[in-house]
Amino acid sequence: MVTKLRKTIRTPEIFIKASEGVVGREIEIKSILAAMDAGKHILLEGPPGTSKSTVLRKIARVTDTSFYTIEGNVDLTPSKMVGHFNPSQVMEDGYRPEYFEKGPLTRAMEEGGIFYIEEFNRMPADVSNVLISPMEEGEISIPRYGAIKAVRPFTVIAAQNPFDDVGTVRVSRAFLDRICLIKMNYQSEEEEEQIVRLRTGCEDLDIISIAVKMARKTREHSDVKLGASVRAAIDLVDIFASLQKLSDQPEQHFLIAAPMALSNKIWLNEITSKTPEGIIDDIRSDLRADLDKLLGHDEDETTGSLLRRKVYEKGLDKNKEREREEKEEHYVKKNSSSTR
Ligand SMILES: Nc1ncnc2c1ncn2[C@@H]1O[C@H](COP(=O)(O)OP(=O)(O)OP(=O)(O)O)[C@@H](O)[C@H]1O
Ligand SMILES: [Mg+2]
Repeated sequence: MVTKLRKTIRTPEIFIKASEGVVGREIEIKSILAAMDAGKHILLEGPPGTSKSTVLRKIARVTDTSFYTIEGNVDLTPSKMVGHFNPSQVMEDGYRPEYFEKGPLTRAMEEGGIFYIEEFNRMPADVSNVLISPMEEGEISIPRYGAIKAVRPFTVIAAQNPFDDVGTVRVSRAFLDRICLIKMNYQSEEEEEQIVRLRTGCEDLDIISIAVKMARKTREHSDVKLGASVRAAIDLVDIFASLQKLSDQPEQHFLIAAPMALSNKIWLNEITSKTPEGIIDDIRSDLRADLDKLLGHDEDETTGSLLRRKVYEKGLDKNKEREREEKEEHYVKKNSSSTR
């Protein structure tokens, strides 16, 4: 059993604060808060770029919960999660508890924090089995050190991409039986447009709409196994807007920005003979009408051009939002690397 509850995380105010600056995701935020409050652990299942980190970092911040994150991969060992005795001190003086350097899992347990594992299904089964006792018993026994007890709301959150089958291992039944599932699918087109608007500061709805459409169409393309996330749409708008700062040549700039933003973010089917650039061309042809609107082919040239310049100048003044994000990132990093 997990020991005493360190703090309350269930108030309506916390839910409201956690939702601020996050587009949509009310149900997912509620579900995570509820799981934490109930002392449950979570499997977050969703493709890349579907707001898993954004939502968790926000929750950690508003609940004043420390946040430790590691990436699951074949090189991960139990001691990288749990901690280890400092070898030189042990050689000199033997095994003493003060020579034990705690890892992110044991720190999260003691601080009642979130232990977030990205790409969970890439970590070896013997490493994931180490999590079972902390999750089930709220305790872990470390040879020559003793037991470490978890403080609530200590929560293990494992993330996996349902489409990922490269280097993945089968998640054990024992693990799945001790965890609750929350799915993070792609958001709606309208929500993705809002996300891009929020993250880029761009006010030109035409380029936002086309960037989101392009990213979404990669997900439906028959030659694509895993399409681009909203990150690609954010990159497309950012790059396009920055290019427009240099000169007003939207057509050329779109042709530069689209492959830069999209081609390395799509994962092709093994059997296709197409290239990512070919797929982007296909999608561009599908979206010809939207592109004409963006490029001003269907409007008076001078008005279109002036309007665009005004929009981009406004859009490029987006640093306030970025600064806020950076501060948030700094806060999380601080909490990831220090005991509090
Ligand atoms: N609902 C949302 N509200 C606001 N911003 C979002 C939302 N979803 C995604 N974003 C933005 O999109 C980008 C990707 O989101 P995030 O990093 O949270 O995805 P992720 O699910 O953690 O991806 P990965 O699996 O690759 O780690 C970030 O810039 C984030 O700010
Ligand atoms: Mg992430």
